[in-house]
Amino acid sequence: MRPVHLFALILQNRGMAIRPFLCLACLALLGYFAWNDAVLAQDKNPYEGNPEVAKLGEYQFRLNCAFCHGLGARGGGRGPDLTRAQKRHGNSDAEMFHNIHDGIPGTAMPAATNGGIGVGMSDEEIWQVISYLRRIQVKAPAQPGGNPEHGKQLFIGASGCSTCHMIQGKGGRLGPDLTTVGASRSVEYLVESVRNPSRRLAQGILEAMKEFPEEYESVSVVTADGTKLSGVLLNQDQFTLQMLDTREQLRLFEKAELRSFETRRESAMPVYDQKALSDKDLQDLIAYLQSAGVQ
Ligand code: HEC
Ligand code: HEC
Repeated sequence: MRPVHLFALILQNRGMAIRPFLCLACLALLGYFAWNDAVLAQDKNPYEGNPEVAKLGEYQFRLNCAFCHGLGARGGGRGPDLTRAQKRHGNSDAEMFHNIHDGIPGTAMPAATNGGIGVGMSDEEIWQVISYLRRIQVKAPAQPGGNPEHGKQLFIGASGCSTCHMIQGKGGRLGPDLTTVGASRSVEYLVESVRNPSRRLAQGILEAMKEFPEEYESVSVVTADGTKLSGVLLNQDQFTLQMLDTREQLRLFEKAELRSFETRRESAMPVYDQKALSDKDLQDLIAYLQSAGVQ
């Protein structure tokens, strides 16, 4: 197996490394549930409709959740819009409590207890946050209005997104896998990612193995024989530089042997302006992204 393929496999299975830990965590949680049944038996919000409690919840939300879900819970760079009445992981009080209390395995949604978020929240504080979320929930389900079928055609066809992005295992690797991006990001974030890719770079490929998430930076090199290459930076240290070039070849260079190299906090994704992609087509693409991760 060529190293490139091996690496591609690693990329593809990036989520795998943490799964055994999640399973362990699940087992631990099961035990915890059995023991903790009494607390969780309460599956209705004891403070339902209480505006004072919702106010306290708003404070808790700003402190613990707005960082990912945005101010007003309308969605941010790291978490979805929570004002939508139709939630992906359950609409009932009990399900929301569970999602917040224990986090959502396999996603970036952390448990609010056990130090997952800040110092950990009490059950009472979680019910406060739910009271707040109920108060700001919009009645009508947010309609993206776009046509996901047409969005899919654009994604794999005319707009060329799938040359760099994978959805459900199909597509390119230069950009991040977009299978769950529609479910986990706000519409504003998605629009901005397409209209203005360099403004806020996606979290990097090796994020799972790093203490600090890296961003998808761009890199260009000129090798000793004058060959020019560009792509995304995977890794670098004082002496070496690793990149995925635009033909998806993994390359490793000794910096000292390069004629020149340059890394830029800039997206390798082209800017799609109104000429390249109309607002209507962008809406269809977003409708497709939003439907893609939901099975
Ligand atoms: C580190 C970022 C992060 C923090 C902090 C965070 N969340 Fe989340 N949350 C997410 C992501 C990402 C998802 C989407 C998971 C998915 O479906 O991929 C999510 C999903 C949820 C959901 C489920 C939404 C649905 O559609 O079913 C709820 C409810 C929720 N979060 C509430 C909260 C609350 C309340 C807090 C604060 C106590 C919080 N979150 C803190 C990232 C975060
Ligand atoms: C030439 C390769 C390329 C093409 C074509 C491309 N992208 Fe990207 N895209 C990238 C790269 C690289 C990134 C990571 C850097 C960044 O955040 O802009 C990215 C990031 C994104 C993100 C942000 C993902 C996140 O997790 O934050 C979205 C959304 C996105 N692209 C959607 C699209 C859509 C929709 C199209 C087609 C209209 C498209 N891309 C076409 C390379 C590409």
